[in-house]
Amino acid sequence: MRQITFRVDALPSEPAIQTFLKARELEARGADVVHLEIGEPDFETPSHIRDALKMAVDSGQTHYCDSQGVRELREAIADRIASVRGVHVDPDTIVATPGLRPVLFYGALATLQEGDEGIYCDPAFAAFPAVIRFAGATAVPVPLRGEKGFRLDVEDLRRAVTPRTRLITLNSPHNPTGAVLSEEDLRVIEAIACEHDLYVLSDETYEEIYYGERPRSVIEFPELRKRSIVMSGFSKTYCMTGWRLGYAVLPADLVEPFVRLTANSVSCTNTFVQYAAVAALRSSQACVQDMVMQFRQRRDVLVDRLNRMPGVSCHTPSGAFYAFANVSGVGLPDTELARILLEEAGVAALAGSAFGECGRGYLRFAYTTSMENILKGMDRMEHVVSELPTVRTG
Ligand SMILES: Cc1ncc(COP(=O)(O)O)c(C=O)c1O
Repeated sequence: MRQITFRVDALPSEPAIQTFLKARELEARGADVVHLEIGEPDFETPSHIRDALKMAVDSGQTHYCDSQGVRELREAIADRIASVRGVHVDPDTIVATPGLRPVLFYGALATLQEGDEGIYCDPAFAAFPAVIRFAGATAVPVPLRGEKGFRLDVEDLRRAVTPRTRLITLNSPHNPTGAVLSEEDLRVIEAIACEHDLYVLSDETYEEIYYGERPRSVIEFPELRKRSIVMSGFSKTYCMTGWRLGYAVLPADLVEPFVRLTANSVSCTNTFVQYAAVAALRSSQACVQDMVMQFRQRRDVLVDRLNRMPGVSCHTPSGAFYAFANVSGVGLPDTELARILLEEAGVAALAGSAFGECGRGYLRFAYTTSMENILKGMDRMEHVVSELPTVRTG
């Protein structure tokens, strides 16, 4: 019997896609499903970005380009960071990638090897522990606790660091909880990373989707930035999930390895998509503000409805587009409740345990569908929950 390697075995099936496929199967058999499982904006890519793509194709930007990414895009990213964060970034320290996921892989592969440890927050986007293991290292969780609003307790982080630790992964605003790292948190993380000479991989893909003060970026903390891979992209901000474009801002020592990883794995990132992204960055950001305004309205309604259900409670997320609700009072495992909701009520949500041990007892709802659908989904869930004999009320 031929064996699949441990590296590939370390990679999980994507829970959102699994649930989506199951929902699709039910739909093919006639079911009506409310989709609250997939984390992608339901809005169209803004028309000026689509137009810029067509122009780029028509003007011949259809060939291989620099593996690091086209200069115009790297300059536009640097200019945007300067205007939003007030920080100068050299475009030569930026690498463009086909989506953010490659940055997670390249970051882990460039900084970790067997015997090392990489830290991730639990619950987490499943790719974080997966890429750490894929690189041959041990994935060490730091718990994010629901009773603390899923804020990272920096003392837990301090305790997780050992002489083998090489990398801390961060994600703010956070998938699945919507929590945001504060300036104080980032100062302590900076001190820990410097003291132990660690790399930090900071996934800031939801940086533009927030409902209070703008979340701080690792890039604003000079000592932290020197040792950080700061990643963001176009998927969520500009509704460009299918276009596949992300980027990393890198410490000087990681630029050349990243370019080699890109060149060897994908040659380069889609050329005409990069030119369209220049238009996304250099045009008005009103489309982003409009989208976030709609997410905020949906968030408020969704969280309110969840909090009114017996056995369910939900903190208000500060960013991203997920509500992570505590359903432990419903008296069923999260996986079983998710199954019942999908199969018996046509509501697709994700079991929190798919995001790690600390997600057990929670469900993740992506509010990336219309208000009408959210209300329909909540009506159905309320009905299911209130009929359950196991639910604890009061
Ligand atoms: C935290 C986080 N990082 C990365 C990604 C993947 O982004 P992309 O589609 O740009 O590869 C996602 C997608 O859901 C995410 O939630």
